[in-house]
Amino acid sequence: MKEISLTTTLKVYQETKDLSEEAQALLQLAKAALADAYAPYSKFQVGASLLLANGKMIGGSNQENASYPLCLCAERVAIAAAASQYPKVAITAIAVTAKNPRQALTAPVSPCGACRQVICETEQKHQQDIQIIMQGEEGEIYVLDRAKDLLPLSFDASVL
Ligand code: THU
Repeated sequence: MKEISLTTTLKVYQETKDLSEEAQALLQLAKAALADAYAPYSKFQVGASLLLANGKMIGGSNQENASYPLCLCAERVAIAAAASQYPKVAITAIAVTAKNPRQALTAPVSPCGACRQVICETEQKHQQDIQIIMQGEEGEIYVLDRAKDLLPLSFDASVL
């Protein structure tokens, strides 16, 4: 028997002003995007924003449905928009944030497992690491260099 240790390294920033100007702008867009969330059921508003290799930024928000399993996460809404509008352009970073009327979110908000899988697929598709930037409504910001770090031992096309 042997053990394998899987480790993830991320950077923690205390305030948005400590981020690069590009990352600040991306996070700002994610915060603006969450105002467009359609979340009448959970009331949990999520905003995501993407930075593309051509410099464009695209926002997305969660879109819910009375048939709950059909709810769309903000990250995947943004990724689908980018893939439709700029199919050949790689995504270099994603920012994610959220707002909860029931409690102030002071810790970073992390993409769900399904979104991690989709962000990993996007990395594969364009052969481009995607930096992940996460923040709650306020507080510390986590930055990871690639989505794969959020999903160790992920399922991918290599086994198909
Ligand atoms: N949600 C996202 O938009 N992104 C995530 O990564 C996790 C969850 C949304 C889905 C649903 O509309 C609400 O948050 C509560 O789960």
